[in-house]
Amino acid sequence: SKETSNTSVPREQWGSRFGFLLAAAGSAVGLGNIWRFPFVVGEGGGAAFVLLYLGFVLLIGLPLMIGEISIGRRGRANAMDSYKIIQPNSKWYINGFIGVIINFMILAFYSVVAGWAFYYFILALTGQLIASDKDFESSFSSFISDPIMPIVWQTILMTVVVLIVLRGVKKGIEKWNNILMPTLFVLLLILLFKSLTLENAREGILFFLKPNFSAINSGIILAALGQAFFSLSVATGMYVTYGSYKRNESSIARNGGGIVLLDVLVAIMAGLIIFPAVFHFGIDPGRGPDLAFITFPTIFRDMQFGIMFAGFFFFFVFVAALTSAISLLEVVVAFVKEKFKLSRKVAAPITGAVITLVGGFCALSFGPLSHIKVFDRTIFGLFDFIAAEVLLPFSGLILSIFIGWIWKPIGVKQEIEKEGNSFPLFKVWSFLIRFVVPIVILIILIDSIGII
Ligand code: PHE
Repeated sequence: SKETSNTSVPREQWGSRFGFLLAAAGSAVGLGNIWRFPFVVGEGGGAAFVLLYLGFVLLIGLPLMIGEISIGRRGRANAMDSYKIIQPNSKWYINGFIGVIINFMILAFYSVVAGWAFYYFILALTGQLIASDKDFESSFSSFISDPIMPIVWQTILMTVVVLIVLRGVKKGIEKWNNILMPTLFVLLLILLFKSLTLENAREGILFFLKPNFSAINSGIILAALGQAFFSLSVATGMYVTYGSYKRNESSIARNGGGIVLLDVLVAIMAGLIIFPAVFHFGIDPGRGPDLAFITFPTIFRDMQFGIMFAGFFFFFVFVAALTSAISLLEVVVAFVKEKFKLSRKVAAPITGAVITLVGGFCALSFGPLSHIKVFDRTIFGLFDFIAAEVLLPFSGLILSIFIGWIWKPIGVKQEIEKEGNSFPLFKVWSFLIRFVVPIVILIILIDSIGII
């Protein structure tokens, strides 16, 4: 049987042919590009890491993404049930369930940083962010270590996300992505122009673009792979879920190429904005998750119309985080709603509340709970590490086997070529998904046993 059991209500769909593309790009482009990418590049020693990341995006991320969207559009169900529809009476759907867990875990810590960004946006709006001779390091660290404020902002942020997801695919997710994504791009261009005209940019650009391969080790390779998955939102079930609302009108393969291009572009731009400033102001590029929050205000302070640009910038970070958080919540909501036969109006607030509760522990791990360390990581660091560097590559491995060897390339091809759409480079894709993706991921995972 090819039909889901819940056929009583017709499944939601994107309203326009750009609906899927914008929403998927909205999910991919986020804190992963602006906040996470710069600090993992900093920790990973610069340009050699960037090259690894780009290689993984093209050879692993893109092929998986194309397969994942196809699973969703074929299954027309949530991240888990779509597997069941393609391969009934098998256990492959467990990988879809792992995706739901990944989204839950990512949103738990993601909402913390999104909350910080929201707070900084409000500070910038009210002109308090770059008030004269402020010490950004100590003001930021006293904010994130506060026992109450970060949780308050995280909760406000999550409330906004729940309210959007509650409105549904077309009137909520699609409508907001249509407004927010173009805004985001314009803001980024303005900022890029500003930062490239900064003095002493050279050293930072070299760090970012001139590779030193001697810095590479197992940990860095795994981190680059994790960043590729995280930044593309690939192997999380997001593409299955968003793909399940997609009609047959445009080529999945081309959509995938477009999303990857946009995501990489934004990451590279973020790097080109941040590293010149990092070196210019003598900030340590390897300092970790607070890198962006300290570097950017420093740039704006010394800039003409800095207050205005700070406002733009943190609005941009907030918007980018919001569209990704929407997708993270939607994957879990779609699952909960179909699994427990709840309405969206009930499933969204409940799911959001549970995630916020768990996420509170991540928020507190910068303050009152900072002494709790597991494998030498804080709660926040542990959530990030397990989701991005353990579960994502693992789930990507299973996904590639499912697509390449169980459903098989020909099944994907048939789905993509429906209604006369093309699948350019099908042979290359097929080779990548069957051999390159699983083998490379497996080698990296085996190679990193022991660095936990
Ligand atoms: N890709 C998003 C970002 O870069 C984060 C994300 C990961 C969103 C996984 C959805 C699923 O910020």
